[in-house]
Amino acid sequence: MKKIIIAIDGYSACGKSTTAKEVAKILGYRYIDSGAMYRAVTMYFLEHHVALTNPHEVDHALSKIKVSFRVNSTGTSETCLNGLVVEDEIREMRISQQVSQVSALPAVRHAMVDQQRRLGKDRGIVMDGRDIGTVVFPDAELKIFLTADILVRAFRRQKELLGRDEMIDIDTIVENLVLRDEMDSTRKESPLRKAPDAHQLDTTFITIDEEVDEVVRLALSRMVRASK
Ligand code: CDP
Repeated sequence: MKKIIIAIDGYSACGKSTTAKEVAKILGYRYIDSGAMYRAVTMYFLEHHVALTNPHEVDHALSKIKVSFRVNSTGTSETCLNGLVVEDEIREMRISQQVSQVSALPAVRHAMVDQQRRLGKDRGIVMDGRDIGTVVFPDAELKIFLTADILVRAFRRQKELLGRDEMIDIDTIVENLVLRDEMDSTRKESPLRKAPDAHQLDTTFITIDEEVDEVVRLALSRMVRASK
């Protein structure tokens, strides 16, 4: 069957990554977490004290950064920054608090979007993010836009952070999610918005399994259509 591109976009902590990862596994597709790329760039910028207001410093830093993905022994994709696995560090709250400022910079977006397009050139990919169906792959055969109630999203994120031994109170998480959604939706360069042809899915009252089933069902129908 012909391989397709599946773009999963939506607000922060809606379950995009969990769904995308599972769908990719079921279909035997490659999974790319575009948010992880912006998080890795943010980590580098923080560690090298890059001034976001200085375009030369930003360009210089971007020329030194290589974000890649490797699959570990359990079959899980891990994000690498200049060859080092940073999968856990990039999920820390200190990164979440800066990532939307970094990802709003046009130079950062151009560098990451170029790389994302290269990763998808052979199709057979599930990519999640904010602008995948609108900017990165406007021709994706399947576009999903996920939403969920803010408190449900915050509790899911708190549980995820606890799993990484980071205890953050719920109000701080809600504040971060609301702020990021606002910044991501209002930035000039490729803001977060639903593509007109995206299938919207509210995940507030459904389980991950139900969410995955629905995306796989839609993907199979698009694969059949693409193969005709
Ligand atoms: O997992 P969570 O929903 O918290 O966010 P993420 O997918 O890891 O993305 C982190 C941040 O990267 C977002 O808040 C956006 O600012 C940025 N991002 C983006 O601008 N474009 C993308 N395609 C993906 C992420």
